[in-house]
Amino acid sequence: MNDSLPLGPDQPWLAPLAGYSDLPFRLLCRTWGCKAACTEMISAKGLVYSTENTMHLLRTCSRDFPLIVQIYGSDVISISKAMDRLLEMGFKYFDLNCGCAVKKVTRTGSGAALLKNPSLLVDMIAVMAEKAGRSNVGIKMRLGWNNDNPVYLNLAEPLAGAGAGWITLHPRTAVQMFSGRADWLALKKLKEISKVPVVASGDLYTAEDAFKCVKETGVDTVMFARGALMDPSIARRYLNLLQGRADLPRSQIFIHKLCMQTIANYRRFSTSPRAALKLRSLLPRIIRCLPGARELRQRIIKCKDWKEMEDALIVLQGR
Ligand SMILES: Cc1cc2nc3c(=O)[nH]c(=O)nc-3n(C[C@H](O)[C@H](O)[C@H](O)COP(=O)(O)O)c2cc1C
Repeated sequence: MNDSLPLGPDQPWLAPLAGYSDLPFRLLCRTWGCKAACTEMISAKGLVYSTENTMHLLRTCSRDFPLIVQIYGSDVISISKAMDRLLEMGFKYFDLNCGCAVKKVTRTGSGAALLKNPSLLVDMIAVMAEKAGRSNVGIKMRLGWNNDNPVYLNLAEPLAGAGAGWITLHPRTAVQMFSGRADWLALKKLKEISKVPVVASGDLYTAEDAFKCVKETGVDTVMFARGALMDPSIARRYLNLLQGRADLPRSQIFIHKLCMQTIANYRRFSTSPRAALKLRSLLPRIIRCLPGARELRQRIIKCKDWKEMEDALIVLQGR
């Protein structure tokens, strides 16, 4: 197996998505063209203590490769210990979360709060790269903490020097959270100066968005996040567009198939008692483009098990 991560425009990734990019969802998106996938963000401290939740987030299988384990933390020691644990467990690729802007995370000094302390962030990458190898470690960051202090361009060189093998940029500030538009021009500027590949994240809701982003910015590849939650087949649609092939259908029958595949993956690969609850949030996103989606959503969110969900979705076959 080729050991380097897929980093070309025709090799889209699935983004880290807390609460969603678990094993069943990653496998689903891989079936539909994602060439690499990230875990949900995982606490370095949780890893050191091997908490049950952390171990659950790390569930994987041989088809789930290449897999990038995303960690977050606020000090070099716990990052270093977490890396030791992960390497012992056989993981190969790693990412440092410097983009999560949720208060619960930033008030501990982790996630996007690291953008206020660039030298610490670079030290963390250096430790990760020393342990895992230079091309096996990346970072996912925002532009900076706020508009007054964008740090992403200044970080490009030190990060490459410290051993980052790629940089993923979600071009918003932490203060912005998800508001406003992702600044794709920033992706272009970063790509122009970065010595390592740049992965784009931000407002890639459709295959067309991703196609446009690659053309406009010259980034190495794209990462689907909310776009994949709304359409797990988005990477295949993007690849079809890139390669001049016909789009996948958008029919009810097709969406029904996607929903059934989603349910089947959770039935087969999830050990969580909360899996049915997760589907109650995922399936309504997938059907949201269809006529009558509101009524169907009302039914889905009341379903207690797989069978009830499958029954609720039958209407899509007959409409
Ligand atoms: C529900 C949800 C969970 C997310 N979880 C993570 C995470 O664990 N780690 C991370 O780096 N980014 C996380 N993100 C950010 C996404 O990976 C991505 O960078 C962001 O959504 C922008 O891309 P988009 O506009 O195409 O969705 C999350 C986003 C959403 C919507």
